[in-house]
Amino acid sequence: MTFNPLQERGIPLDKQLRNWRELNVTPIDPDHADPYTRCRIITMNGIEVEAVMFSHHLARHCPDLEIKQQLARVRYIEAQQQKAVNWLLPGLASVLETTIAYEQVAVDLTAWVARMEPDPYLQQAYQFGVLEDFDHLYRYANLYEMIEHRKAEKIVDNLTEVMPGRPTFMHHRNPIDNVREPYDRSSAAPISKLHALTIMSTEQQTMNFYMNVGPIYMEPIARQLYQEIGLIEEEHVTHYESLVDPGESWWEMLLNHEYNECYLYHSFMETETDPKVRAIWELHLAMELEHLRLAGELFKRFDGRDPEQVLAPELPPPVTFESNKGYVRDLLTTQVDVTTLGTGYVREAHERFTRMQQAVMGGEQPPSERVIDDNRAVSGREYRLETEGPHPVGVRLTP
Ligand SMILES: [Fe+2]
Ligand SMILES: [Fe+2]
Ligand SMILES: [Fe+2]
Ligand SMILES: [Fe+2]
Repeated sequence: MTFNPLQERGIPLDKQLRNWRELNVTPIDPDHADPYTRCRIITMNGIEVEAVMFSHHLARHCPDLEIKQQLARVRYIEAQQQKAVNWLLPGLASVLETTIAYEQVAVDLTAWVARMEPDPYLQQAYQFGVLEDFDHLYRYANLYEMIEHRKAEKIVDNLTEVMPGRPTFMHHRNPIDNVREPYDRSSAAPISKLHALTIMSTEQQTMNFYMNVGPIYMEPIARQLYQEIGLIEEEHVTHYESLVDPGESWWEMLLNHEYNECYLYHSFMETETDPKVRAIWELHLAMELEHLRLAGELFKRFDGRDPEQVLAPELPPPVTFESNKGYVRDLLTTQVDVTTLGTGYVREAHERFTRMQQAVMGGEQPPSERVIDDNRAVSGREYRLETEGPHPVGVRLTP
């Protein structure tokens, strides 16, 4: 059945405000919930945080008092949505458990997006990135076993493998080489714009999370690993945000943000296995339809165009969390040694890459390598979850 968010009626804005009781959602069961329900919650939190922050940035550039007031009203609702969504997470998870869940989101969401992306240049950007977050999952899983004495399979539940990807030390590139070419807003497929916003938002959430939680641990190796991977998430945000055409006006960007919120809530409503969580996706979709209508009004007024001219006439097939083990293994065999040069991709360690490597390593092993050695020393072997047989690449790359 086709669904055109521009044709659907939502909840009027003045009916969207919730009281404390309504915001006090029941969290998911930490032991029995579907891991992909947790992934959908984390994704939507990243999307709502981006909705709030984008609206703040827009407001800071907006001289018109009345428009600023309308932005503030919608933004307050986005902030309530963020609370309702993120408070679905149960309080029991440790910072490292949440970290592992964030990296699982990065792997299975980016792999899905890479599989569905029609533009080869954009697809390459997702294929490139997914192998890095896949490696982060492995590094954190080893830290988790070492300092919390638990195994990451309890969290990822055999849906995502845990083993080396492109080794983390190879992710430290000269910042110049993290900037990609943008899609062209006039010719890009609507789904490409949605993909870029989605992955940019979830990577931004991971970046923000590591910025704040990294120093919570006392163990030196934990503190150092969060610094190292936190800096890579900065690279990832640079990589993905540069895919978005900067020629879009603020109103077009707002429109795309609201449309993407409709798309994702609708996707998750269609694929959610937990009925209580599904009810929240459904409620929030009804709110977003009205946000989209309001953004459409602003777009018409200030851009002089109709939303139909830039948005898809119906929602694309739903974003789906599912296992991507075979896809990731294929990428490992073909792209593990790839790096970037300018806005393209190469296989050799070029001069700018080598200089950056020397500068950040300072002649020592990076935390991402030490964490594996340290866990091997404590646990007798490193932690891996290879459900589909031995690692497809085999050789271990070392700095
Ligand atoms: Fe929202
Ligand atoms: Fe990551
Ligand atoms: Fe990342
Ligand atoms: Fe919204």
